[in-house]
Amino acid sequence: MDRITLNTGAKMPVLGLGTWKSKPDAVGKAVEYALCDASYDHMDCASIYRNEDEIGRSLKKVFESGKRKREEIFITSKLWNTDHKKNAVKIACEATLTDLNLDYLDLYLMHWGIAIPPNEKNREPYGRLEEQLDENGYLITEEVTVMETWEAMEELVKLGLVRAIGVANFTAPQLVDLLTYAKVRPAMNQIELHPYLQQSRLVEFCKSQNIAVTAYSPLGSPGNYGESGLPVLVEDETIVEIGKNHSKSPAQVLIRWAIQRGTMVIPKSVTLERIKENSEVFDFELSRDELEKIASLDRNLRFVDPYSWWKIPYFG
Ligand SMILES: NC(=O)c1ccc[n+]([C@@H]2O[C@H](COP(=O)([O-])OP(=O)(O)OC[C@H]3O[C@@H](n4cnc5c(N)ncnc54)[C@H](OP(=O)(O)O)[C@@H]3O)[C@@H](O)[C@H]2O)c1
Repeated sequence: MDRITLNTGAKMPVLGLGTWKSKPDAVGKAVEYALCDASYDHMDCASIYRNEDEIGRSLKKVFESGKRKREEIFITSKLWNTDHKKNAVKIACEATLTDLNLDYLDLYLMHWGIAIPPNEKNREPYGRLEEQLDENGYLITEEVTVMETWEAMEELVKLGLVRAIGVANFTAPQLVDLLTYAKVRPAMNQIELHPYLQQSRLVEFCKSQNIAVTAYSPLGSPGNYGESGLPVLVEDETIVEIGKNHSKSPAQVLIRWAIQRGTMVIPKSVTLERIKENSEVFDFELSRDELEKIASLDRNLRFVDPYSWWKIPYFG
């Protein structure tokens, strides 16, 4: 598996398995299959996905079986918005470590640059997320600065609970601000990236600051948005056509594109054949001409837009 060196010196596998909305009884099998049968070395988790306990049972099984060793696997998790207060960060990280059956995380990300009050409902496995909105439908936020949260995350590195820290969904101005006080520089910005939302300026900016980038929703999240009326990226004619040139599926073209851009990529699947298919992306290369065709597909189309949940125009 190809790896990219983070600003910590750690080598992170470019391809990981996404686990958002991976359901009970499916996510554990998916993780086990990815690690033992499809040569994945990287898992992308988050406490808010509320499936870390099942993933943890699979990780334990895989490590105890001797099929894979902990040190070969790169595991990311994320701090949810309810846990941004100084005193909550370590508790949240330890809860994730307990659920995942791990002593340390390879990477811990601040999931969003926004804090909200604690909400016990977020801890209920697979329950519907009920975030508190005010009478006008706006998310109720909590008065915690990103600086307070970041400093608490820096403590996790000192304690050895996490090997690297980073952010997700950060815009360039948020990063510029963070970099003014960060004693531990963010190793990662995990953002939505695919041919319909290429964010090339943000990717270049992160790279210029030695912050690695992970592409989330690299397939356009068809399970969540396939019936939304938005265009379905895995059915895009150009992508399908390019796939045919290489005898590869649209998903494989999209994953390969992310890798050739120098980003990590974390396609989610609980379907064993697709997990395997998504890993078979290291035996072909997109040509310059194909890359140019894909570049022309950019249309600033964001699938994961918190405006629809929070009425906060996070990305404008
Ligand atoms: N930091 C953040 O705020 C954030 C936000 C969103 C996502 N993420 C991370 O990024 C990961 C990936 O993003 P995502 O889950 O939104 O979407 P995605 O990976 O773009 O798409 C996942 C969907 O594509 C389907 N799929 C997988 N492989 C396929 C293939 N070869 N052909 C056709 N369809 C395929 C999956 O179905 P099946 O599972 O049914 O096979 C699932 O419905 C997440 O799981 C999560 O780990 C992070």
